[in-house]
Amino acid sequence: METQTASADRYAVVGNPVAHSLSPQIHRAFAEQSHQLVDYSAIELAPGDFERQLRELQEQGLKGVNVTIPFKRQAWEICDQRSPRADDAGAVNTLVFTEDGNIAGDNTDGVGLTRDLLNNHRALIGHRKILILGAGGAVRGVLAPLLALKPDNLTLANRTLEKAEILAEDFRHCGDFQVCGFNDLGRDKFDLIINATAAGLDNEVPPIPEDVLGINSICYDMMYDIHAPTAFVNWAQRCGASRAIDGLGMLVEQAAESFFIWRGVRVDTAEVIAALRP
Ligand code: ATR
Repeated sequence: METQTASADRYAVVGNPVAHSLSPQIHRAFAEQSHQLVDYSAIELAPGDFERQLRELQEQGLKGVNVTIPFKRQAWEICDQRSPRADDAGAVNTLVFTEDGNIAGDNTDGVGLTRDLLNNHRALIGHRKILILGAGGAVRGVLAPLLALKPDNLTLANRTLEKAEILAEDFRHCGDFQVCGFNDLGRDKFDLIINATAAGLDNEVPPIPEDVLGINSICYDMMYDIHAPTAFVNWAQRCGASRAIDGLGMLVEQAAESFFIWRGVRVDTAEVIAALRP
């Protein structure tokens, strides 16, 4: 009698650089937990001709990929179909290679952030005052889902005011929010302060006054470091924030939503987040 061994469905994270990505570890943990036959790897793509490289992966039989820096915008551009949340973000982090040969794009970063805040940290967004720092791609990915939760007030502050003003124009249809420069901060206190700048890459924090913190303020850094507190988490703790949280939970939650898109299965993220901290 012939025995048939089922082969694993293949997925990958593509980026440059990508070698240190935690996504393979996270998706393997999801696959194990949910008894799915999944093979997930990290693939570094060359900077040029994103579409050709991606079509090659499709031809090799991969079922989908996660897209990370610096290809999220290019991934958005080459999709045959896009979800509304990908369109809002103007960037894509999850691609599905469909049976009929198309590429469908989604963006799970926003839901990753809101689920981490609401479910894992029991933070409140509705009826609260929110401050977002930054106006780059990271903010574009999360702004619409945050506004959809109806904060009482959302202020977006950026080092370069003009960039924040462009963003205000692009996202005006998603809800009300104000933009300002860092110098304009200090008069109001915020319940939740989200750092979405790239300052942490240089171990820096955006130059904002401590006065933005009230006694119950939560600080959230979209960056993460499993080995040490990030610069923004350190700053928040020094300034007496009631809680200072890094973005590891967001990373796992956005991955869980990608896994759901591909596999139709919801995983227990808490277990995976806990296992990632040494
Ligand atoms: P990403 O896609 O990660 O958001 P990006 O589009 O390059 O990256 O945007 C980086 C963001 O971090 C910008 O808001 C940038 O501010 P500017 O628009 O003024 O450039 C912000 N940023 C980077 N380094 C910073 C620093 N040292 N202090 C404060 N903001 C910083």
